[in-house]
Amino acid sequence: MKTTETELLFTPFEIAGLRLPNRIVMPAMGTGLPEHDGTCNDATIAYYRRRAAGGVGMLTIEASLVSPDAYGVGPELRLHGEEYIPGLRRLVEALRPYEIPIGIQLWHPGRQTLLGTPIAPSPVPLSSRTPIPHELTRDEIHTLVDYYALSAWVSQEAGFDFVEIHGAHCYLPCEFISPLSNLRTDEYGGPLENRARFPLEIVDAVRERCGADFPVMYRISGAEGAEGGFEVEDAAAVCALLEEAGVCAISVSAGNWYALHQTIGPMFLPRGFLVSLAATIKRSVSVPVIAVGRLDEPSLAEQVLADGDADLIAIGRALIADPDFPRKVQEGRLAEIRPCISCNACVDLVANAKQARCAVNPEVGRDDTWLIEPAAPPRRVMVVGSGPAGMEAARIARLRGHDVSIWERDAELGGKLDVASRAPSKALVLSFRDYQARIIRELGVEIHTGVEIDADTISKAAPDVVLVATGADPLVPPIPGIGGPTVIDAQEILHDRVTVAPGERFAVIGGSATGCETAEWLIAAGAEVTIVEMLPTVGQGIELITRRHLLADLRKQGVTILTKAKVTRIEPDAVLYERTDDGEQGSLAVDRVATAVGWTPRGASLADLVVGPEVVVLGDAAHPGDFVSAVNAGADAGLRV
Ligand SMILES: Cc1cc2nc3c(=O)[nH]c(=O)nc-3n(C[C@H](O)[C@H](O)[C@H](O)COP(=O)(O)O)c2cc1C
Ligand code: SF4
Repeated sequence: MKTTETELLFTPFEIAGLRLPNRIVMPAMGTGLPEHDGTCNDATIAYYRRRAAGGVGMLTIEASLVSPDAYGVGPELRLHGEEYIPGLRRLVEALRPYEIPIGIQLWHPGRQTLLGTPIAPSPVPLSSRTPIPHELTRDEIHTLVDYYALSAWVSQEAGFDFVEIHGAHCYLPCEFISPLSNLRTDEYGGPLENRARFPLEIVDAVRERCGADFPVMYRISGAEGAEGGFEVEDAAAVCALLEEAGVCAISVSAGNWYALHQTIGPMFLPRGFLVSLAATIKRSVSVPVIAVGRLDEPSLAEQVLADGDADLIAIGRALIADPDFPRKVQEGRLAEIRPCISCNACVDLVANAKQARCAVNPEVGRDDTWLIEPAAPPRRVMVVGSGPAGMEAARIARLRGHDVSIWERDAELGGKLDVASRAPSKALVLSFRDYQARIIRELGVEIHTGVEIDADTISKAAPDVVLVATGADPLVPPIPGIGGPTVIDAQEILHDRVTVAPGERFAVIGGSATGCETAEWLIAAGAEVTIVEMLPTVGQGIELITRRHLLADLRKQGVTILTKAKVTRIEPDAVLYERTDDGEQGSLAVDRVATAVGWTPRGASLADLVVGPEVVVLGDAAHPGDFVSAVNAGADAGLRV
């Protein structure tokens, strides 16, 4: 049943003869799932089939390499030869039953080529740590244009309905447009019309090779979002030229390598933060415009369409987290949506040459083997601990037909999720806790909160199997003075159990995720904060995009970051440290000290209490890890029990 609140979102649409059943588009998103030789495999097909099945109106397959010299970061699809056609054809055929347009993105990373020789319009490196890219000659530019055309033809032969040229995020076509990376003085550099020449030549070549009827879309950064980069007026002018050249739709993303938070907005950016770029570009073109950027709030997406700011809404991570997002919205089942928490763990994995996984959905990346089989025979399963691992284990065990109970010592379900959401930038994490809690309740998992588990509780519950998901305890570092009255565990702070006097001087020992979040909390409470970290950098364990932004923000707010400093003693009014590089001794005057140096698993002590039933220790209770590993460990335990 269509809800009136999302009527526009579910109104069919047409682009260049392609019929979309609704206005929701899945944008290109790398998965790390294809084979290393660039061919398509069953895992990739299953991942996309699952997304197509969820009711999206149009689907764009991930950025796929257009020339043999192009390398991303890990396994990516390749398009520059007939040998790739059979695998791609299988992919298209698997998605055909869903009767939506299927396209693929044509990609050359240019100077962001990390595994091979980077190439670029000009020899300007990405950063001081990356090699100087090879400056493309005119002949090489023409060859690349031919490769784009060949790749489009391969896509067409494989049965794709359209191609999208990846002209965003400062990959090669975008590097030509950007004044930061294009310093050329020939016909490909200088005024905007010259800088747009390369993308325009690609469009011409694709249309010539595939025929003028073959739909060619273009993805652009509506603005680079970095100092010295191009602005939305420039992007709009380029889009007008692209339309003239025959592009049939424009997808408006944002950002470049320096402004990745614009490309894949972390949870601290507001929903819809890129809409104004799409709206500006829409005023310059008459072809359909696709908006993107945390638009997974259905009423907001509807409003964007109602305001005429875009014709279509791209929803990325929310479709990773819950492929059924479109269908659930259309049927008004909003509470059933497994919420993406914009944590960016998915992209962090892919950017590190790993397969995509999701912090809230353990099916992601293993869609081809995922199977919830009925338990034979059903057993009494007692889950101890209700963090993300425990609740996921309970959900899946229950779905398999087990008789499941979950036991939590705190008053509320959620375990570490509560504290994980305390930092001002992470409140969204709670939406996942609430989702998990609601689902297990609905499934009929028996819930016990406020119960400290001992041998007696276990024996009274009479389980066949105990899943120990009790999480981890903060590690107490063996530093002289650690037991002093001015020393607090960071968890106490993140649990709001500490009052801070204005200007109170805090040292936070440990600069990983918890340390940084504690610093964020303390500074917001009015303290003066120094993070003391033994390693050369802080923010380990935080995904790249959030980390960059968080660190810049902490610095902006006046947090002092002291790296390569090993704390040797805590005194009532000072922290003494030794530099790890030159052994120099230093001291820091402080009023209080917060420790955030890691975790120690809590599972073994509970497992020892279990006599009789089978015991499985999982998640942080076995090996402290991140959100993704906790949810996946919970799922695995639920599948196996
Ligand atoms: C794991 C991941 C991979 C991505 N890969 C691509 C890509 O291949 N091409 C592209 O244009 N954008 C890529 N993006 C950006 C998305 O298409 C999208 O623009 C972005 O996630 C913002 O939309 P959202 O807020 O709805 O997630 C990727 C994003 C993620 C999370
Ligand atoms: S990993 Fe995080 S950002 Fe990515 S889809 Fe899952 S919840 Fe969203």
